[in-house]
Amino acid sequence: MMLIAVIHGPNLNLLGVREPDVYGTVTLARIDERIEALAEELSVEVSICQHNSEGAIIDAIHQAGCEADAIVINPAGYTHTSVAIHDALKAVPIPAIEVHLSNILAREEWRQRSVTAPACAGVIGGLGAESYLLALRGAVALARESAEAAS
Ligand code: DQA
Repeated sequence: MMLIAVIHGPNLNLLGVREPDVYGTVTLARIDERIEALAEELSVEVSICQHNSEGAIIDAIHQAGCEADAIVINPAGYTHTSVAIHDALKAVPIPAIEVHLSNILAREEWRQRSVTAPACAGVIGGLGAESYLLALRGAVALARESAEAAS
């Protein structure tokens, strides 16, 4: 079965209590439940992880490169700074979709630039938890396209 790696970045473990005016009150556990329900509907497997440190996210990307068909990633604060996460996404042979709960283009100027997005096939943001579900659909579509092209 097709496997999609979902990687949540720093501070997303605090969703629900963290700046609810920006990120809403939904918890990460609830988002993960919705991701798992959609994965079942789409007949794919998901492996979901959350890491606060940059190195752990890079390790998760490398691991996904060995075992998954596509990546859905919210690099959170590292979006705006991490050349190393950008390079890890470039280094693996599978497509990635970047996700944001908030619309980063409508926020502070320093948040409007994504260092990691140029290493991704697409970006979805501004739709809260729904951003992850649309990204999962996109990741599955991309992975299916490349599986078809290879067969
Ligand atoms: C975020 C947006 C980032 O700017 C911020 O640092 C986050 C969350 C989002 O999902 O909206 O931690 O990635």
